[in-house]
Amino acid sequence: MPYLTYNQLEIVLNNDTITEIDKLCELRLKRMPIQYIIGEWPFRDLNLKIKPPVFIPRPETEELVELVLKSIEPMSKTDLKIADICCGSGAISLALLKANNKISVIAVDRSNEACDLTKLNAQLNYIDNKRLEVLLCEINESNLLENINQTFDIIVSNPPYIPQTEISQLQPEILLYEDIRALDGGLNGFETIKLIITMSSNKLVTNGLLFLEIDPRHPQLIEDFLKKNTLLGLELSQIYKDFCTTNYQGSVINDGPSPIIAQMKKEKYSMSNSFNT
Ligand SMILES: C[S@@+](CC[C@H](N)C(=O)[O-])C[C@H]1O[C@@H](n2cnc3c(N)ncnc32)[C@H](O)[C@@H]1O
Repeated sequence: MPYLTYNQLEIVLNNDTITEIDKLCELRLKRMPIQYIIGEWPFRDLNLKIKPPVFIPRPETEELVELVLKSIEPMSKTDLKIADICCGSGAISLALLKANNKISVIAVDRSNEACDLTKLNAQLNYIDNKRLEVLLCEINESNLLENINQTFDIIVSNPPYIPQTEISQLQPEILLYEDIRALDGGLNGFETIKLIITMSSNKLVTNGLLFLEIDPRHPQLIEDFLKKNTLLGLELSQIYKDFCTTNYQGSVINDGPSPIIAQMKKEKYSMSNSFNT
């Protein structure tokens, strides 16, 4: 595809280029997201390959990365261990690894395509593969990563958190092309979140931090859940509003509700790996 340079006001397109542009326009008319059409998208200082049906990273998630990086700054420990649960294209893991060379990351996802894309994006963005492990694994009630013989200083996740009843109201771009399991958080959008909180209770070191991108209706559910499950030893320590949540009115709009970020702290040692709903 020809590009205009700074001293060109126009270029004449040949027939092949016109046919190619027509094809791209047809895909867009079929509501394919622009990120899937061009096959790549920036996320912080990364250029990520983007392939359907792997979830397209959203700009709000860049703020989640920023918060995790800020929380690392005062930590004196070198070789911090981080788990990115639900890694998708690898956006969070790779942005963290690129920004800080004292961390190592385990990136976990249930989807083969997502794990493969995370590995490919690591290569394409020259991320040191000795600091990254990609694990194909579904988090569920009988698998809360007990078989990983490791604890983490930080767990971060942008999990599926849209309530199941609201999935049908999402934009056609999402419903037709993105993996719905990346978005569908089950009852109240809270099912995967409960699993990740419970897992974090066992997998975080004392004073370790859990960062979760969530729906603005979730902080109350998190508070109630932690009250009913004090054995988990976690405390909700901060809620951060992202740049578009300020005017959130509590209704779902096309792309889903504007997310916010919850930070939890592991207060004390706990061995609980089950929970009360
Ligand atoms: C909202 S996407 C987030 C992707 C990426 N972290 C980002 O921010 O762009 C959620 C991801 O979680 C994965 N996922 C959903 N449920 C899961 C589960 N129970 N265990 C592991 N991965 C899961 C999906 O395959 C999807 O890639």
